[in-house]
Formats: sequence, C-alpha cells, structure tokens
Amino acid sequence: MICLGIESTAHTFGIGIMNDSGKVLANKKATFTTESGGIQPSKATQHHYLFWEFVLKDTLKKAKLKLSDIDLIAFSQGPGLGACLRVGAVLARTLSSKLSIPLVGVNHCIAHIEIGKLTSGFKDPITLYTSGANTQILAFASGKYRLFGETLDIGVGNFLDSFGRDLGLGFPAGPKIEQFAKKSKKYIELPYTIKGMDFAFSGIQTKLRQLINSKDFNKDYTKEDLCYSAQETVYAILTEATERAIAHINKQEILLTGGVAANKRLQKMLSTMAKDREVRFDTVPFPLAGDNGAMIAWQGILEYKAGRSHKPKETKVSQTWRTDQVDVNWI
Ligand code: ATP
Ligand code: FE2
Repeated sequence: MICLGIESTAHTFGIGIMNDSGKVLANKKATFTTESGGIQPSKATQHHYLFWEFVLKDTLKKAKLKLSDIDLIAFSQGPGLGACLRVGAVLARTLSSKLSIPLVGVNHCIAHIEIGKLTSGFKDPITLYTSGANTQILAFASGKYRLFGETLDIGVGNFLDSFGRDLGLGFPAGPKIEQFAKKSKKYIELPYTIKGMDFAFSGIQTKLRQLINSKDFNKDYTKEDLCYSAQETVYAILTEATERAIAHINKQEILLTGGVAANKRLQKMLSTMAKDREVRFDTVPFPLAGDNGAMIAWQGILEYKAGRSHKPKETKVSQTWRTDQVDVNWI
C-alpha cells in the first residue's frame, strides 16, 4: 500500500509518500520563513496556495510515481492554524475523490510521535514532543496517549522563535540560536520554571526581553551569552521533567521528536540522562523532525490498516485537537 500524506498545519506545506513497510519514497516541503518578524497566518496560507502544486509534482517525481499509483490519502486535520489547515484538507478531499481512493484525517502531534517510533523501533516510549506550538511529555496507556507533563503557556519552539524575534532574527529562530549558543560559555541567570511535571517559558521570555532592552546588553553580556543561557535553561527544564516522568512510570525508552528535536544540545542532555538511568534514547532523524508529509502518510497507513477512513464531510479541520483526545486504534 502506498500513501500520500499532506501537511499544512502552520509554516510548512509538505507532501510525503510512504509504503506500508515504513519506507519513505519521497518527502518534499516548502516552508514559509521570514528575515525578521514571525509568521502571519494569512501569509503562510498564501504561501501554501502558491506552493502546493509544485510540492505535489516534485514529490511524485522524486518517488517515481504517478497519482494513479497512490492507494490512500492522509492529511493533517489539526491542530494548527485554521486557514493553513484548510489548504491541505481541500487538496486531500479533492485527490481522494478524483482518484476514488480512501481518505484519512490524522492528528499532527500524534504523527510526530509515530514517525519517531517507526525510525527508532521503540515500542512503548516516553516521548518528549517538542515543537513550535506544543511541548508535551507523553506515553501510551489504555487506548490513548496520556500527558505526563506539558508547557503551561507556550511551546518551546515558539519561545525560541519569539526570543529570536526580540534579537532581530527571522523565523525559524531555533537553529540560529543553536549556532550563536555554541560561541559562548557565559551563563546569565534566568528563571527556572518547572512545576512538578509541567513547565512554563513565558517568564524566561520576559526576562530575556528585559536583558536585551537593558543598557548592559552588548557590554556585560552578548547575544551569544543570552542564546547559550536560554538553551541551557529551557533544555535542562525539559530534561528534568522527562527524567521525572521516566522515574514515575516504568518505561525503558525515551523518544525525542518534533521540530526542536533537531537541537544537538537538547539531544545531548537527554542522552546523558538516559544513560545514567540505563534506559534507551533516540531522536527522530532530521528530515522527519520538523513538519513534513511523510509522518502524515505513515500515520494514515497506521490508522487505515486498523480500520479507519473518513468521508469528506467528516474531515472538517480542528485547530485545537489535543494529543490526548485522539482515539488510538492502531496499537
Ligand atoms: P507543532 O508541531 O507544535 O504544531 P510546528 O508544527 O510549528 O509545531 P515543527 O515544524 O514541528 O513545529 O517545529 C518548528 C519549531 O522547531 C520552530 O519553533 C523552530 O524554531 C524549531 N527548531 C527547528 N530547528 C531547531 C533547532 N536546531 N534548535 C531548536 N529549535 C529548532
Ligand atoms: Fe509540528
């Protein structure tokens, strides 16, 4: 079985093609970026309308397939930005009806987890899902992915992107902050905001903004020092919360997934912790870490093979569909 997956929840319009053995046949995307400032939903939507056809053709070409070779269409039904989600949903419904093949709407966050399980081979991990809008610690129990901890305000990626915006960096800022952080070892004290298994980032963001606006900026400390301090603080918080989760529930695997999983410093902190606790650790490979169509295609295959498909009228997009609301029919 060959599935074409469509991703359009926010900044990225992606199409991936996977087979049911778990092989990625093609995975192409176009991402809306900026030189400075954040993502405006209307501009990201316009970007998706401009690029969908190019990405579709490019993906089919890379996979050496025609549309008539596709057996199943999957798309991100939520959560995300409404107007962006609708671009993918309309394309998915159109392709499914034109090709007379089944359609499955999947949850974007769950797709980030399942693609990581596929690449790591982990069967029952604690997952640290870190991306733009979401930061959650999850594990599967009794039919659902249950939340063991999560951000009380913004996702860690959004934190990095808005801190980057205050420094005049464009979107996405996470990778740029990682590079600047490598040039410093000077830690500037920041709030360390962890409450039990949950954590928060907006206080750290406010403190960093005050430091950027202070007269001491570029005298006592530099942008590199702030990037280093921000990374050390938020990644230590995420590592501590994940360690607490693994200590509470008896799992043997830690999986890191989502866009921020590309960060080498976060990977290092988690792998050191996992080694100390003698549990396995793995990170989703870079091309599958940020938003992409392949993870949506894989999620579509899992759900379809377990008996789920949707009629077009059941595929209304949902901006606020939470990870722990998804009925897991494939485990
Ligand atoms: P969500 O999955 O919560 O809906 P999203 O879909 O917007 O969020 P992803 O594409 O999964 O997010 O992740 C994008 C985020 O990853 C951005 O905030 C970006 O700054 C961050 N990011 C990408 N690369 C890195 C990196 N090397 N270090 C830190 N952050 C990174
Ligand atoms: Fe995402």
